Amino acid sequence: MIIVGNFKSYLSNKDDAEAVVKAAGKLTTKHKIILAPSFVHLGYVAAKKAGVALAAQDLSIFEGGAHTGEVSADVISNSGASHVIVGHSERRADGETNSIVATKVCQALSAKLKVVLCVGEESRDAHATYLSFITEQIVSALKGIKEADFKNIVIAYEPIWAIGKGSNEAISTDDLEETVLFIKKVLRENFTEKVMKAVKILYGGSVNAENVKSLMVPGLDGFLPGRASSSKETLKALVEAMDA
Ligand code: 13P
Repeated sequence: MIIVGNFKSYLSNKDDAEAVVKAAGKLTTKHKIILAPSFVHLGYVAAKKAGVALAAQDLSIFEGGAHTGEVSADVISNSGASHVIVGHSERRADGETNSIVATKVCQALSAKLKVVLCVGEESRDAHATYLSFITEQIVSALKGIKEADFKNIVIAYEPIWAIGKGSNEAISTDDLEETVLFIKKVLRENFTEKVMKAVKILYGGSVNAENVKSLMVPGLDGFLPGRASSSKETLKALVEAMDA
């Protein structure tokens, strides 16, 4: 499976970020670990060649040039990252629209970065309107993409209501399995069977060593942990629990 660890803004010191990345590089596991430190720490940890792939947590909508404070896809790929997280709910909460997310996906792919596209509803309702919400997030972000580029897309299903909670408040096994199937159906119906097979699907939202095994449902390709990825102890425990 794939584990994309999103450090968010948990680590203020570059040495702490480096310690987690180095410890992850030393783990013996069949899973692929990709870690997403802050922009400022990205180049630093990449230079340490710790043996795990790196991701940025966001990117600019702009290609480069006169855009003060922006971090373009090219800057990210030249800093040693292979992946970028796009459309995280914490960015969407700050005003990132589906259209901005779509632009960022294109920018990332043009710079040969692999995209971890985050989608997920704020809450679930009895009429299942959240399913149309997820569909719209997926289709709007990916509609301009060439079929051949879909191998560089990973969808991370992160229901907002499950983020940053305790072990018992992550999604249930049944609901996760059902949502993974639903996302595959969205990909098949709005794109192609080939696209559906090419795109990997992750789950994020209060994943940790205690609950990860029960969340390894059929069809799921991995996880996007936040807090549990931000210390070497909790990340190691998570990976070991997956391997157990
Ligand atoms: P937590 O694992 O801390 O709930 O965060 C999930 C997340 O938002 C990862 O991007």
